[in-house]
Amino acid sequence: MNAVDYCSFADAWEERATIRTRPRRQVEDDQRLIYPLSRQPLVLSATFVRECPQQRDFALVQSLYKFIHDVVIFETEIVNHTASAIARGRFAHDFPFACRYDAMTVVVDEDYHALVAMDFMQQTIELTGITPVALPSEIELSRAIPAALAQVPERLRQAAELICVAIAENTLTNDVAAFARDTSVKESVKGLMADHLQDEGRHATFWQRLVRIYWQAAPADDQASLAHMLPTFIERYLTNDIQKAFDLALIEHLHPDPAVRQALREEAQGLAFPISRQHPLLGNILRFFKGSSMLDSPCVRDALVAYLP
Ligand SMILES: [Fe+2]
Ligand SMILES: [Fe+2]
Repeated sequence: MNAVDYCSFADAWEERATIRTRPRRQVEDDQRLIYPLSRQPLVLSATFVRECPQQRDFALVQSLYKFIHDVVIFETEIVNHTASAIARGRFAHDFPFACRYDAMTVVVDEDYHALVAMDFMQQTIELTGITPVALPSEIELSRAIPAALAQVPERLRQAAELICVAIAENTLTNDVAAFARDTSVKESVKGLMADHLQDEGRHATFWQRLVRIYWQAAPADDQASLAHMLPTFIERYLTNDIQKAFDLALIEHLHPDPAVRQALREEAQGLAFPISRQHPLLGNILRFFKGSSMLDSPCVRDALVAYLP
C-alpha cells in the first residue's frame, strides 16, 4: 500500500466510535471482582492466601487504579503525542489528509478513553472508600521510547516514535481483549474494557497502515537505522520493573508484620515473565511487524533474530 491507496475509516468512526455510541459506565456494588485475579497474581500466592486473604479486594482495587492510571498516561502522553503531530501536519513525513483526519479521530478517542478512566477511578474511590496508595508516574513506554529514540539520528526521531507507538497500539489490544472476556469481574469493568477494545481495533489497523506507508517510502539507510533500535525498544518495553516496584509498594500496605511482608516480596519476585520468545506480548509484536511489512526487510529480520520463531 502507498499513500494514494490509503482508505479512511472516518465512516466507521462516525458509526462505531465509543464517544459517539456508548453510555456512561457506572460501577455496580455487587460481589464480583473489580480486577481479575490473573492480572494480580500476588493475591494468588501461597503467602498471601495464608497471611492476608482479607486484603484481596484492597489489592485488586489498587491494581485497578494502577491499570487505569497507566491507561491515562499511555493515551495522553504517549499515543496522542504522536497522533496529534500527524493530525496537525507537524510530522516529519507528509501524510495525506485522510491519514491526518483519522489521526485526529485517534486523538479524540484516546482523550475520551482517558476521561472514562478518570471517571471510573473516581466512582471506585467513592464506592469502596479506598484511595490509591502507589501510582507510578511512568509506564514502561515512558522509558522505552526515549531509549530507542536515542539510538537513531535526530531526523529519524519522529519516525522512530511512530514505529514505537504503532507497536504499543498493536500489543495493548489483545491485552484488553483478555480483560473484556473475563467472567469473574464486574459487568461495568468488562463493559469499560469492551468499549475501549471497540476503538482500539480500529487504531491498531490505523497505525499498521501508517507505518506501512512510511516504511515503503523510506530509504534503505533509514530503514537500517530504525531496525537497529528495535531490540532496545522491545527489551525496555517488555520489562516489568515498574510493575515490580508497584507490587513492592503495595506489599507495604498489606500486612503489619515485617516477616510476612518479606515473604510476600519474595513471592512477588517470582512473578515476572522473562523477555524471550515465550513472552505473551511478543506474538502481537511480531504480527505487527508482518502486517506493517517491516518484517519483509532483511534489516528488521536481522535485528529481531532473538525473537523470531
Ligand atoms: Fe485507547
Ligand atoms: Fe489507541
